[in-house]
Amino acid sequence: MENKKIVVANLKMNQTYEEIKDYIEKIKTIHTKRVVFCPSALYIPYFLGYDYGVGIQQISEQVSGAYTGQISSSQAASMGLVLTLVGHSECRTYLHDTNTVIQNKIRQALDHKLNVILCVGETKEQRDMLKTDQVLTRQLLSVLQGLSQEQLNHIYIAYEPVWAIGTNKIPTNRDIEDTIKFIKHIVESKLSFTDIPVLYGGSINAKNIGKLNQVKGCSGFLVGGSSLKLQELFKIIEVAVKE
Ligand code: 13P
Repeated sequence: MENKKIVVANLKMNQTYEEIKDYIEKIKTIHTKRVVFCPSALYIPYFLGYDYGVGIQQISEQVSGAYTGQISSSQAASMGLVLTLVGHSECRTYLHDTNTVIQNKIRQALDHKLNVILCVGETKEQRDMLKTDQVLTRQLLSVLQGLSQEQLNHIYIAYEPVWAIGTNKIPTNRDIEDTIKFIKHIVESKLSFTDIPVLYGGSINAKNIGKLNQVKGCSGFLVGGSSLKLQELFKIIEVAVKE
């Protein structure tokens, strides 16, 4: 994996077919794989064929077969997708993705040569109870333990504090820096893997990207709401993804 920053746009369950036509017209001016769009799975074929990367928001823990409503890693890989998000807090909460399910999904993705962005992060309650380190350690180790060094090469961690998602609240740069250091330390000390790339996600916008971009050790950004507003997204890309 490259050392340069990436920007991943998580479009979540937004946009209609009419809206994406216009959206794609505008984003096709992006000529780098360091920007990756994760649209609603329904629209993935429309996003393909341009110079940016395309990923998927969610994959099944199953290989294939009678799993109505699900999409397998091999299907995602066969469409040319570069990565999948795994363990997003919205999937942990609304789809009840447990650490065991998340571990299975990661293995499926890696088996089919998809890169993985593993999302981790604490809730406000956990933070207030000073449990952030404990929560992150569990979220990381319960799903990454047992992977080979070669497999770990295909994993990005996205630190997304749950309380910062869609709230316009963000941690201080110092807090993000410390957490990134902690994540790298856990991965290094427990899994002997050095320098895992860590992204930040949560309420990133055109106004705060300049400051967030100063966070040391941060390998990029996972953008939700602002990726729907192209002026915001283009500014984020301009700041974070300098060629
Ligand atoms: P927001 O940028 O809307 O806070 O969402 C972040 C996120 O969940 C990205 O995966």
